[in-house]
Amino acid sequence: MTHEKQEKPRYFEAAAITDADAFKQVVQSRRSVRKFTQTQIPDEILQDCLDLALLAPNSSNLQPWMFYVVQSEAPKQALVKACMGQLAARTAAELIVCVARTDRIDELAAENIRQFTLPKVPKAVKSYYRLIGLNYKTGLLNSIGHAKKLAYGIASKFTPLPITAFSPADRKLWAVKSTALACENLVLALRAYGFDSCMMEGFDESHVRKILKLNSEEYPVMVIAAGERAEDGVFWPQLRFDRNLFIQKI
Ligand SMILES: Cc1cc2nc3c(=O)[nH]c(=O)nc-3n(C[C@H](O)[C@H](O)[C@H](O)COP(=O)(O)O)c2cc1C
Repeated sequence: MTHEKQEKPRYFEAAAITDADAFKQVVQSRRSVRKFTQTQIPDEILQDCLDLALLAPNSSNLQPWMFYVVQSEAPKQALVKACMGQLAARTAAELIVCVARTDRIDELAAENIRQFTLPKVPKAVKSYYRLIGLNYKTGLLNSIGHAKKLAYGIASKFTPLPITAFSPADRKLWAVKSTALACENLVLALRAYGFDSCMMEGFDESHVRKILKLNSEEYPVMVIAAGERAEDGVFWPQLRFDRNLFIQKI
């Protein structure tokens, strides 16, 4: 009798054939645009760009983001003011507030189990998502954060440990990282459709919080102004420094 190990059913997804030149064109033609025409972005294009933003890689697939598309007149005007009346905000066809959230970690961890994409949820996946919430909990008066810091300080001398939250600031940073990746997807998607954008962190956070009624675990990361580039919408040629300043081979 042979004792061949039974092959586990595995999932295969072939790598799609892509077009590097088309990608380069999108990346290289993206500029921060500070003046837009009055042309509107067709809703199906805007929705598609938002869907592409949601495909960004994100930590533990917990999707810690929220995109508020501000279209009603009163909040939009208030948002322009919160963005200090920047020309990009004033002329944009669309203003999207990109928010990092840390208040849905447990809920979305449970969804990762509930909506798992294969018929049988592997045990390891279940255990992972049952425990992941703790990785970002810091507790009352940061009690859990302090305890984790102490434990990690000792344990990481013996074994490598993944990034965790030792404080609410760490938790915010965790969510901001993934949200910023989605923001980049969004602006590249707009560019691919021939539209343009300006990422803005020149806004008053307390005003934005008030306009959107954000809770304390929602952090506005940036406001994205989007629309059709005006002829004089880019103010100067793009500047990047010598690549050797930023890339090092070790
Ligand atoms: C996080 C972030 C915040 C920014 N905030 C503003 C802003 O408030 N106003 C603005 O005009 N541009 C803003 N920018 C655009 C940068 O000034 C711009 O990306 C940079 O000068 C490089 O130019 P480029 O985007 O055309 O390559 C921001 C960009 C990023 C990524």
